[in-house]
This record gives sequence, structure tokens and C-alpha cells, in this order.
Amino acid sequence: MIDRTPVVSVLNGECSDEVVVVYGWVRTARSGKNVSFAEISDGSTPSTLQVVFNRDGFEDLSGLATGACIRVKGKVVRSPGQEQSRELEAVELEIVGPAGEDFPLQKKKHSLEFLRSMPHLRVRTNTFGAVFRMSHHLSLAIHRFFDENGFYFIHAPLITTSDAEGAGESFQVTSMPLDRIKVSDGRVDYSEDYFRRKAFLTVSAQLEAEPMALAMGKVYTFGPTFRADPSDTRFHTAEFWMIEPEMAFFDLDDDIALIERFVKYTASYLREKCGEDIGFFSRFYEKELENRYRMLIEGDFARISYSEAIELMQGSGRDFETAPQWGCDIATEYERFLADEHFGSPVFVTDYPASIKPFYMRLNDDGRTVACTDLLFPQVGEIVGGSQREERSDVLRSRALECGIDIEDYSWYFDIRKWGTAPHAGFGLGFERLLMYFTGMENIRDVIPFPRSKGRML
Ligand code: 4AD
Ligand code: MG
Repeated sequence: MIDRTPVVSVLNGECSDEVVVVYGWVRTARSGKNVSFAEISDGSTPSTLQVVFNRDGFEDLSGLATGACIRVKGKVVRSPGQEQSRELEAVELEIVGPAGEDFPLQKKKHSLEFLRSMPHLRVRTNTFGAVFRMSHHLSLAIHRFFDENGFYFIHAPLITTSDAEGAGESFQVTSMPLDRIKVSDGRVDYSEDYFRRKAFLTVSAQLEAEPMALAMGKVYTFGPTFRADPSDTRFHTAEFWMIEPEMAFFDLDDDIALIERFVKYTASYLREKCGEDIGFFSRFYEKELENRYRMLIEGDFARISYSEAIELMQGSGRDFETAPQWGCDIATEYERFLADEHFGSPVFVTDYPASIKPFYMRLNDDGRTVACTDLLFPQVGEIVGGSQREERSDVLRSRALECGIDIEDYSWYFDIRKWGTAPHAGFGLGFERLLMYFTGMENIRDVIPFPRSKGRML
């Protein structure tokens, strides 16, 4: 067994005046006339531990370089410095994993763009350590919220036969070698493919969550989602995690109330667990970060229907790049206007035109809008998309036909309307977009350990 004391235990005073062995990576090292110092980190706390080397006994400290992994035996003493309460007086040093001058993270500050080119190393910086610690706590907050509220966690399949959102942004999955695919009469012969039919990586777990909810009541999925999204913005990525709860006996109002409670819960949870990291992000990335938490936890979320939003924008006297018109999608400039300027708070936009939404959303009595909502946040835009589902078999069928859906492919989805159908609703929340909001990071690639986006993958 490796004898080791984590840095967190040294810093919180658990082992004052004891001799301990600490392992860590050197963040910085500097040498003075009689003493040298190294700041080391081992991931157990956001803080680094200062190690002091007296010249006697440590004549050659050339291996003590930024990026190296070291093992130090030393005495825990109170630190005379302001920065930390404890430090380590070294008595023994071993270079476990050396790093030379070619280690890329020599300087203290690097641009996020530069760091994006080395996902395997950037996690050794303060910024990315903080991002991924918060990612961990946010994941746990999500599971806790649903568990405390009577939901069951479901593992949805990642390989599916459906494109739930009907947006044609799916990645196809095949075991056939692409350079030897058989085509006859212009059609691919799938009889030799693994599933003997066309298959895709999931774009949403919703369709599979629905049958589970119509038996278990309240369920949720939280897993990877894949989209060959043509939008290549700082909010889009090809592989992201989505949280998708699905609830029997919920209508749109119930759905919206749940979304608001969920967001408030995760914000409170993080504020309680991640004070040090939130402080770090407010200092270096987003001055208003603490206000964001306050607004989410204490403030009310606004609500407006799509039709009212279009009228509001038309009457605003604002010169939009594209004039808002009933039937168009809510473009980024409209999101900004609504969430950042008009409401200055998160806002639920509800009841969009059926023509711009997927077939599964419940048709309202007006026959032209659907019972759905997008939750827009100031600064980041759409965080959540949700809806009441169409539980009426005949209406669902005609909406599917209108949307060009092959009903044969979805027969099991129609079955749950045939036998014991029930009103139900759900939503999908993009994990990374929420994490961006909670950290103040402005690019989705900076909250994903190994991001995949159009034309880029390391
Ligand atoms: O609005 P979307 O497409 O909704 C659905 O997929 C529904 N089936 C969800 C449901 O009702 N169960 O996606 C939901 C959320 C978006 O609001 C956004 O936060 C995130 O998923 N999202 C993306 N995040 C990063 N990169 C992308 N390319 C994303 N596309 C959607
Ligand atoms: Mg959406």
C-alpha cells in the first residue's frame, strides 16, 4: 500500500506537527538563496500545498519542475505566510514522474483557446480542476433531487432506431465497413448490418423514457446524447449529457413548476458545496456569478407564451436583424431580448407553433400551437426544452404523418397510446449549458473533459 496523506488533510490541520508523506504535481517552483518553494496539488482540494526545501540537504533541486509528480516526506508546520495556514517542511524528496522544460503549462496563465488544444493536460490547471469538481457536484445534485422527489433513474439505450427530435441530426451506427457498403438500386442493403436495419446514436432518451413513466410514474434519464448539430457555436457540441425526466399525470403547468424547482435546487446545492470554486470563478471569470445564484434561488422565473413574445418584440420598436413573425423560431437575438433585456431573469416561453416543434408535443385546443416550453436564461439562452406529450392516439398519428414520420418505425411508441394511455409530460435539460451558467465559462468546450464538436476531436 502507498503511504500517503492527501493535501486536503494537511491544509485543514488534521496532521499538524506530524511527519507525513504527500504526493502531488508541481504547479510552480521557485528557489531563493537559502530555501526553495514548490506549490503542489493532488486534486483533493482546490488549494495547493506549499513545500519548503532548506538548502542544506537539498543541494540539487533540478527535478523540482513545473508539471513533475513528486513524493515528499516532511513535517506539517503552521505557515508564516498569509496565503495558507499550513505548509510542509521537506525532509525527503523523490521525483516520481519528471517533467522537462517542454511541459506546455509552464506559465501561470494561458488562454482558454490554447488550453482547449490539450484536454489531457488542461485539467492540471486551477480553472479546469474547478470546472470538473463542480461538474461532479452538479451531477450528484441532479440525482439527489430526483431521488428525493420520488423519481426512478432509468438507463436509456444509446443506440436507437429513432430520431426523436426529427431534426435529422443523428449519427448513424453501423458495423458495415463504410468503404464496402452494398448499394442496389440506389438503396443500402442493411441485411448484412449488425441490427439488419438503420440505427443511430440517440439524440434524446425521451421516447424510451415515456413507456417507463407510463408504468413507473416518475422516471428520469441522465446520460450522453449525440447530435451532428450544424450549429457550431459556443453553446453546441456533438456529444453532451442530457437530463430527461418524464412524469405520468403531469400537464405543462406541472412540468414548468418542476423545472423551476429543479433549477433552484441545483443552484442551492452548488452554492452550499462549492463555495471555494464559485469564489474562484467570480474572481477570474464572471464578476456577477454570485448574483446569478441569488437570482436563481431567490427570484421568480418569468413566463410568456410564444404568441405574446412575438407581439411584445414586434411592439418593442427594436431593430432586430430578422423581424419577428409568428411562425418563426426564437432566434438568439430574440432570446437575448426576452431573457437579458425585457425580463432580466430566466423566462419560460410556452406554446410554440406546432409547425416548428416535433410531432410528440400535445396539440393545444387552438389547433395550431403545442403545449411546450423552452426555458431561456440570461446570457446563455435555451437551457431546457420540454412539453406535455400527445397522449391521444389519433392526434398523434396525424401529427406524425404531417411531420413525415414512418409510423411503422415507431410502432411501440404508438402502442403506449393504444393501451392505457395517460396524460404525461417531461423535459430535457442540457447538463453542460447549466454548468456553463454555474461556472461562468463561456464556451461549452470548456466544461467538457474531452469535447467533440464539428471538425474537432482529440
Ligand atoms: O430542446 P431539445 O432538443 O429537447 C429534446 O431533445 C427533448 N426530447 C427533451 C425532452 O423533452 N425530454 O434539447 C434539450 C436541451 C436543450 O434545451 C439544450 O440545453 C440541450 O438539450 N442541447 C444541447 N446542448 C449542447 N449541444 C447541443 N448540440 C445541444 N442540443 C440540445
Ligand atoms: Mg430545444
